[in-house]
Amino acid sequence: MELSNLLSKTEFAHEELAFLLSLKGEERQALWKKAAEVKNAVVGSNVYFRGLVEFSNICSKDCLYCGIRKSNEKVVRYKATDDEILDSCRFAWENRFGSVVLQSGELSSPAFVKRVDNLLKKIKQLSNNELGITLSCGEQTLETYRRWFESGAHRYLLRIEASNRELYYKIHPDTPAHSFEKRVEALQFLRETGYQVGTGVMIGLPFQTLDDLAGDLLFFKKMDIDMCGMGPYIEHEHTPLFAHRYFLQTKQERFELALNMIAALRLLMPDINIAAATALEAIDPNGRKKALKVGANIIMPNLTPCDYRKEYFLYEDKPVLLENSVESLNELKSNIIDVGFEIGKGEWGDSKHFRHRKNKP
Ligand code: 5AD
Repeated sequence: MELSNLLSKTEFAHEELAFLLSLKGEERQALWKKAAEVKNAVVGSNVYFRGLVEFSNICSKDCLYCGIRKSNEKVVRYKATDDEILDSCRFAWENRFGSVVLQSGELSSPAFVKRVDNLLKKIKQLSNNELGITLSCGEQTLETYRRWFESGAHRYLLRIEASNRELYYKIHPDTPAHSFEKRVEALQFLRETGYQVGTGVMIGLPFQTLDDLAGDLLFFKKMDIDMCGMGPYIEHEHTPLFAHRYFLQTKQERFELALNMIAALRLLMPDINIAAATALEAIDPNGRKKALKVGANIIMPNLTPCDYRKEYFLYEDKPVLLENSVESLNELKSNIIDVGFEIGKGEWGDSKHFRHRKNKP
């Protein structure tokens, strides 16, 4: 099939997606250009800001790729105080971010559940109920998801990481705590509770093929997700997956493949929100801007209190972005405006997809 015909389709078969992901050179430029057009036509030129607060790196999971996995004894564990977290949220509100993302390692103790619950209420209070709140705190019970929803969270990010079950178990230990089925079930619980649901995968993992990635895109479609965040996999020395580093694509190849994934997803699901992931900037200092140009429409400036940033070290070269000062924020904004976008101000910036599905009977 002619590439130009393929690019104007709205439904894609598995092989067609794998083909799009394989594109290089001029053909890849054509894919990126088409994705930019679809994005502008469907979700417009607004870029929405979410202030990211990585409030604790204490984690009960042992994911084989992740720098803050439980067994990594080299990590200095931290828990930001309520005041520190609320200060970051206040900064987001005062600077007219529509919403914040509270992210942490995965814990499910009653104390943790209660703490998050309290924080949600306090963030709502300090912002006159204006700040939207996204949580990214891993797998929880349906009851916990409901409790947090009632206390004010309205979006949830839980990456599937790899939607092919076999690949999932190559990057996670095969234990009940890391069950693939439980993760898929958690995504269903979130949807059932009423959250806007976001998921995503890492791109360029050892053992991963283009077929796996095409399958990931179809998984997003089947799950009818509202939001997606995907970035390149980047090896971390103190993790078991580091042993497979010799089989990886170059970082530049993983970066470009990540842009192809974003562009292909924009064609497949034109009305969802797609984040320009921080991991892109571990490879290219303009990584997020490049992602915005090929279909992404969300950016998550890092508002984690400065002292903790270096301890939320998920992967090598994770940028310690200092985006919680008015100066650096203005610089980021003008960079985004320079490439032709507008900044969504003080709006939640819900995905159009969510609005449409909510209006359905
Ligand atoms: N490389 C890239 N992304 C990673 N994450 C965790 N470890 C890595 C890594 N080594 C991502 C996971 C997780 C998100 C918070 O960070 O996809 O969902």
